[in-house]
Amino acid sequence: MLRYTASVGFDRRLAMADIEGSLAHAAMLAHVGVLSAQDLTDIERGLAAVRGEIARGEFDWQLALEDVHLNIERRLTELVGDAGKRLHTGRSRNDQVATDVRLWLRGEIDAIVVALGGLQGALVGQAAQHAATVMPGFTHLQVAQPVTFGHHLLAYAEMFERDRERMLDARARVNRLPLGAAALAGTTFPIDREFVAARLGFEGVCQNSLDAVSDRDFAIEFVAAAALVMTHVSRLAEELVLWMSPRYGFVRLPDRFTTGSSIMPQKKNPDVPELARGKTGRVNGHLVALLTLMKGQPLAYNKDNQEDKEPLFDTVDTVLDTLRAFAEMVPGIEADATAMRRAAEDGFSTATDFADYLVKKGMPFRDAHEAVARAVRLAAGRRCDLAALPLDELQQIVPAVGEDVFAVLTIDGSVAARNHRGGTAPEQVRAQAADWRQRLQGR
Ligand code: ARG
Repeated sequence: MLRYTASVGFDRRLAMADIEGSLAHAAMLAHVGVLSAQDLTDIERGLAAVRGEIARGEFDWQLALEDVHLNIERRLTELVGDAGKRLHTGRSRNDQVATDVRLWLRGEIDAIVVALGGLQGALVGQAAQHAATVMPGFTHLQVAQPVTFGHHLLAYAEMFERDRERMLDARARVNRLPLGAAALAGTTFPIDREFVAARLGFEGVCQNSLDAVSDRDFAIEFVAAAALVMTHVSRLAEELVLWMSPRYGFVRLPDRFTTGSSIMPQKKNPDVPELARGKTGRVNGHLVALLTLMKGQPLAYNKDNQEDKEPLFDTVDTVLDTLRAFAEMVPGIEADATAMRRAAEDGFSTATDFADYLVKKGMPFRDAHEAVARAVRLAAGRRCDLAALPLDELQQIVPAVGEDVFAVLTIDGSVAARNHRGGTAPEQVRAQAADWRQRLQGR
């Protein structure tokens, strides 16, 4: 039963937040006259010693003391006596643990925001280098229209920017102080919650004691945002896996992000992208775990909530490791511009440009679409590109076609023509990459 009910095996990870919270609580108790100045000094000295023992790995964690809170309190009392026993005045482990988790998570969110910026920076660096590198753009995984590789990479910079916004938005709700709620109903001591909040850097205090100790929506919301981060990473990972397949041959990755096969000497497997794609499942799972953990709980605190920690810890570890791995890997992506261009030329990817050209000559778009489809069938039958069809044959399909069509049918002409904000033209990609650089530097 000890092993079943104890959380110290994992919640010791909250130790530094627990000490920080206790120091603020003790300072507040002294401030309002509940603790003597001497008790406060003793508690501060004792907690500093405990912090040192934990940091040096010398702390004797005991399963019998159930969790991180009781372990630290017991050691404090061993070190400083009665003052240690007075620390828990006016609080409960219920508001204590909620405070610890929020303090800890706030720091991790800040680390994730930095890591997101690192990955964005890597994407922007590659995008600037490949502003004019053409590749096929896909819909339904069929060659659709040519795009630039830089444009493609900047799509991910946008996704990670929304992820950053979501993280910062969640942070504002994480950053509220539950302490003072005590077990569930508040406390009879004349506490000063704003004092504690200010000391711990919280943006405000939770306004209802029952809500403060019981809800974990802040954690759920964070994991939801993290699941979206992983979803975006996973899409990029999937593309890298595809692009590395010899069927595509669009990119190479440095060896340290790949492994060979133990039996097939020729293999170079995209292990890091595959693992990231796989780890996305864990984080999605953690989100469902936390939602399920919460859904049946009556007010206020229930021991169920002890189960919030492992999913939360693993989410943070997975997201941080993954973002950092990708931030290192992305600059190492080596694009094969020739293979990308060949693939872009393969699937009649400039057919839409041809149709737009006919529209500009006065043809209604639907008729142009139809005429181009005929030209594509002709080229497909000959296994040649649209641009390789002789002018007179194109003119048999549409008399309005002139010599100028060939500029439109080239891959470079196609991308360069999409020269507006959000378009794939090299000029736009260069401008966007420059904007991104500035934004990222200003953070
Ligand atoms: N270890 C507990 C948790 O993680 C701390 C709070 C326990 N409170 C209680 N009344 N048993 O949730």
